[in-house]
Amino acid sequence: MWGAGGPTGAGGGGGGGNGAQQSAAAGLPFAGIPSELAAKVEKLVDREPEHPVDEIEFSQVHDTGGESEPFTLRRFLRPYQRELGASLALVVFGTILDQAGPLLTQQGIDRGISQSNFGVLASIAGIFLAVVLLDMGVSRLQVSYAGRLGETLMYKLRVRVFSHFQRLSLDFYTDEMAGRLMTRMTSDIDSLTQLFPDGLLNLLVQGFTLVVISVILFVMSPTLAAIMIVLVVPVMLAMTLWFRRASDRGYLVVRDRIAEVLADLQESLSGIRIITAHNRRRHNVIHHDNVVGNYMDANLYTARVGALYGPGTEAVGIIGQAMIVLVGGKMVLDGDLSLGELTAFVLYLTAFFAPIQQLVQLYNTYQQGQAAVTKLRDLLATPPSVPEKPGAMTLPPIAGAIELRNVSFGYDPAIPVLAGVDLQIEPGETFALVGPTGAGKSTIAKLVSRFYDPTDGAVLIDGHDVRDVTLVSLRRQLGVVPQEPFLFHGTIRDNVAFARPDANDEEVMAACRAVGVDDLVARLPRGLDSPCHERGASLSSGERQLLALARAFLARPRVLVLDEATSNLDLRSEAKIERALDALLDGRTAIVIAHRLATAMRADRIAVVDRPPGAGTAGIVELGSHDELVARGGQYAHMYATWTRHAAGNGVRSV
Ligand SMILES: Nc1ncnc2c1ncn2[C@@H]1O[C@H](COP(=O)(O)OP(=O)(O)O)[C@@H](O)[C@H]1O
Ligand SMILES: [Mg+2]
Repeated sequence: MWGAGGPTGAGGGGGGGNGAQQSAAAGLPFAGIPSELAAKVEKLVDREPEHPVDEIEFSQVHDTGGESEPFTLRRFLRPYQRELGASLALVVFGTILDQAGPLLTQQGIDRGISQSNFGVLASIAGIFLAVVLLDMGVSRLQVSYAGRLGETLMYKLRVRVFSHFQRLSLDFYTDEMAGRLMTRMTSDIDSLTQLFPDGLLNLLVQGFTLVVISVILFVMSPTLAAIMIVLVVPVMLAMTLWFRRASDRGYLVVRDRIAEVLADLQESLSGIRIITAHNRRRHNVIHHDNVVGNYMDANLYTARVGALYGPGTEAVGIIGQAMIVLVGGKMVLDGDLSLGELTAFVLYLTAFFAPIQQLVQLYNTYQQGQAAVTKLRDLLATPPSVPEKPGAMTLPPIAGAIELRNVSFGYDPAIPVLAGVDLQIEPGETFALVGPTGAGKSTIAKLVSRFYDPTDGAVLIDGHDVRDVTLVSLRRQLGVVPQEPFLFHGTIRDNVAFARPDANDEEVMAACRAVGVDDLVARLPRGLDSPCHERGASLSSGERQLLALARAFLARPRVLVLDEATSNLDLRSEAKIERALDALLDGRTAIVIAHRLATAMRADRIAVVDRPPGAGTAGIVELGSHDELVARGGQYAHMYATWTRHAAGNGVRSV
């Protein structure tokens, strides 16, 4: 849940965030890719049409749902084999150059110093210098090449995860905490960033260095090399296996805990008003303290594991070196080994242990990256629950007939909410849904706009099952105004023109006028250019509802669903609201979930949604025009009587 509301929040999907999601899922212009990314994305798609990124064009994934292959490091890197190959070649070359030092030192000692030949010594020093310079050049090339590759990879991954978010259905966002999803985009991808530019290649460099040095050691002195292998390698291996298991576990926990931290942070920030109002600030601090403490514990655990392994391997290395000095020194004394060879051997040995230390560090990075990959894999494998059929047809321009045919539905299949709902709404009809809170009015609205699919039965628009048409063509002709409209960061104009970014100022102002929000725009110093702050915190909820109505007016859908979309409006401006609704609903089919009976009674027909006595699921218990229902003397007539009495008593007409 994004907003502060609970999962049962009223309105077309709950809190403010779901408003955004609705718009996103509706395939509206801003919904897919943030505008600043759009140009880049297009370039990307041009360059690499075979990459999954080209699914960006809101293509809803077909039947199989999630990405066809699970996300793994190997699959992710596969398209870059050539680049990786080139990087690898640079790595191999650089590593060999790196290891020339001790060998040249040996030559210098044995051929130059021992034989008092300065000429040889000088030329060896010259070669040394040349090798170092070349090595520098290669390293530089390697880092810049690998760095670029890494950034490209991260960029693609971000776009891929983002487009997957845009593809998922509403239920996913109801179940997942927004903060946890943010973690996938931020912290998880960041930990991969550390792995990619340098980490992965460094891992190769160090691994390859180990191989090169082992070979050199064996060539130089098989005896010494064998001693070292027997003494050191089994211990190192055992320690590494332990470390691997421990850190595997540790890093998955770290990823979960950082997600908790961000989720808690996100909820606290977006719910700050409620938190303040209910005096929960102190409690929130304590709670966050716990969450952050858990994260710290997870980090401390992995640090402890690393702290055991790092110094442990170091000690083993030093002990190995001492043994070599002892055994090798004896061999020099016996004349089996030259001094230069022993020097080179000890130097190589140091160089042998350095990469092991490095590998430990890198292994940590790699583990973090793997943990992130696991999390991203799960995310990318989640299929949209409202998939588009392969070969779904484009919904032709509709007249606006809506039919619910024996529809049953439950958010959780085990807990049905609606059962056997039959409903026919004529083109152009204004149809009101009334009934107690939690009966299932919003649920019916969500089924019509296909935010969810019925578990049984079908929803038809102009005779087309909504599951047979493309989501974009459906939602282009069908507008939804939820109770808690979401305003995006941007100007009033951006927000009103959300579904039609190409609308000009005149059209935007006309929409504002139609719903009566023009006086607000006129009052603001910068008019249409006034910023709506994130979540619309600087506007009253009534003003936000009016802007949402203007947004719907400008989009001009054939079918309009208003889910308590006027509930926060000033009761005294009732006449104005009715005018706004008249302008908005004129000529279209409308489903109006009415908070106000005054609004409902103006509808052509009214349906009372409720659970019949004794039933666990809701259905339509009464259906007819206002006059018919009042005459029938049932539930609606009762509601109406209560309302008129109440209104007479207060002098205000409200429910
Ligand atoms: N996203 C959801 N997940 C699970 N249950 C839900 C969800 N949204 C609504 N419900 C439940 O479905 C029932 C009908 O809700 P809703 O259609 O929102 O009622 P209302 O008539 O007030 O609009 C309620 O019992 C509510 O708790
Ligand atoms: Mg509702």
